[in-house]
Amino acid sequence: MATTSESARVDRSAPILHAINDQASGLRGVIAIDSTNLGPAMGGCRFWTYETDGLLAEDATRLAKGMSYKNALADLPLGGGKSVLQVPSQPFDRAALFRAFGAAIESLQGQYITAEDVGTTVADMQNIREQTRYVAGLTAQPGRAGGDPSPWTALGVFVSLQVAAEAILGRELKGLTVAIQGVGAVGGRLARLLAASGAKVIVADISHARAEALAQEISGQAMTPSEIVAARTDIFAPCALGGAIDAAALANLRARVICGAANNQLAEGVTPAMIEASGIAYMPDYLVNAGGIINAAAEYLGESDAQVETRVRAIGRRLASVLDTAQQTGRLPHLVADDLAEAILHRETAIAP
Ligand code: NAI
Repeated sequence: MATTSESARVDRSAPILHAINDQASGLRGVIAIDSTNLGPAMGGCRFWTYETDGLLAEDATRLAKGMSYKNALADLPLGGGKSVLQVPSQPFDRAALFRAFGAAIESLQGQYITAEDVGTTVADMQNIREQTRYVAGLTAQPGRAGGDPSPWTALGVFVSLQVAAEAILGRELKGLTVAIQGVGAVGGRLARLLAASGAKVIVADISHARAEALAQEISGQAMTPSEIVAARTDIFAPCALGGAIDAAALANLRARVICGAANNQLAEGVTPAMIEASGIAYMPDYLVNAGGIINAAAEYLGESDAQVETRVRAIGRRLASVLDTAQQTGRLPHLVADDLAEAILHRETAIAP
């Protein structure tokens, strides 16, 4: 197979970018390895259309760094990486493309482990698996971790909400109001967990029918996506797309805490000073939404569901310690989390891939 993989280390703080190319299948993209200090780099494969190769590489670099932080704070024996592939502009054989991608991963001899991300599916992972074992996100085996990560992500967000409510509002979830933006795989499960714990739940989704049906099921309230941002609520849980917390949202939100599953919740241009001025406590997204990668990592490491649950529940303890440090130092929780992730990443605990 004509897959090529070349690497170039730019500087110590930059990731290694492996360019991947296979003309026969149309495969083109990069595997970005941000850090292997804690173990082989793990992070999903994004299959997306980018205007330029530069933008693709930039996205891969940013996402790989995010995975280093996420994996470090989740106490996983894994570094951070991400692959980003360009969707071919011409008709292509998807199975052949992902098999070629599997060969590219195999050529890195275990330095990078992939899984699903935006644009990729279980079927894609199965095609990758034909060429390499460095892949997770396959169909779950009985008694083993794996399969749909959403319930674990929802549980991690739920325990984080419990911790944030206690630390910031001095309350348990029972009786508090939580507004969930986006009730898909994660948001829907989170809504049910919250309702069962006695919280009042407000939901919104661009599919209003989905929000209405869920509100009815859990005796909650449905709002439109624009209404929910200004809803009278204690906690706002972004569980739709990234970038939900922009300047307008910070100005309109009446919640005192932001804690949700969405990746990259802070929109570009939102500065720590803006968050501080809003008076809203923002819980670091990559810390609270680590349940999905914990599940994928456990699948790769051959762990059980019980081990996944232990790790997911530990997200709450990690958040509690971040909030404690934030309170003692007067720093914002997401900046404390970044520093902690850096400290963990640079401990001398190298594990061979
Ligand atoms: P999903 O696609 O199942 O659900 C997203 C929901 O948000 C959909 O129901 C969609 O209609 C709704 N939505 C989209 N734009 C909206 C808007 N402007 N206002 C209100 N609703 C809107 O996705 P899933 O899996 O539930 O993921 C949700 C978020 O959590 C994503 O940002 C994802 O990257 C992140 N995440 C998911 C993980 C998982 O295990 N599924 C793991 C870690 C992060």
